[in-house]
Amino acid sequence: MKKGFAVLCALLMLFALSAQAEGLTTIEAGKLIISTSPDFPPFEYTDDNDDIIGIEPEIMTLICEKIGLELEIMPMDFDSALLAAQQGKSDAVVSGVTVREDRKLVFDFTDSYISIVQAIVFKEGADITMDNLGDQTIGVQRGTTGHIYTEDDFGEDHVVAYDTYSLVFQALLNDQVDCIVMDDAVAKAYIALNPGLTMAPTTYEVEDYAFGITKGNTALVEAVNSALNELMADGTVQAIVDKYMAE
Ligand code: ARG
Repeated sequence: MKKGFAVLCALLMLFALSAQAEGLTTIEAGKLIISTSPDFPPFEYTDDNDDIIGIEPEIMTLICEKIGLELEIMPMDFDSALLAAQQGKSDAVVSGVTVREDRKLVFDFTDSYISIVQAIVFKEGADITMDNLGDQTIGVQRGTTGHIYTEDDFGEDHVVAYDTYSLVFQALLNDQVDCIVMDDAVAKAYIALNPGLTMAPTTYEVEDYAFGITKGNTALVEAVNSALNELMADGTVQAIVDKYMAE
């Protein structure tokens, strides 16, 4: 009896220790709630069953397995996805988020795992380049880097912001805008789905994607980073990227 009690105590202590070792505080214990805008193939989009799939959900699933949390994905517009993590309504925004100095003030970014550049998307036959971009009506997703750069360069009157990329592309196909400025890897995916569209490069700077964690949750940033770095070191991240880019 006494021995049994001692064993039980030892087990309880061990359990408490390992729970402490994780030491991860999230909105809901044992869960990692991420906000995302799933209009962003191949990074995050919905399949025929309305499940959210793509490079980032797949990487996050593996990270969550490693750090012992259950992944929950909350879909919303990009602007709202940023705000959710900023306000602590999600634990992190995982949405092809470009690391920017101004965003570092409101998120703690993890390490970055991929880089992209902005591209211009337009109808085949239109002559649109970086040089005449200022003469166009430009469609963007609200709150994105494409939105920020074009509004800074050409002013609000030249830019129309929409909540989702499906709305931005509808506007382009209906000639409500002349072109779109957006991340090149995602532009490629949309062009593959929409015959008659093409793209041109921009001279905007290279952007790094990372996950934006609610400010102050250092333990979570460290846990995600160590899992992410393992997945990068053993080639898993590259394999996931290659798989979705090929589709
Ligand atoms: N990389 C760009 C940014 O951070 C665009 C991200 C848009 N993401 C999305 N899931 N729609 O502003």
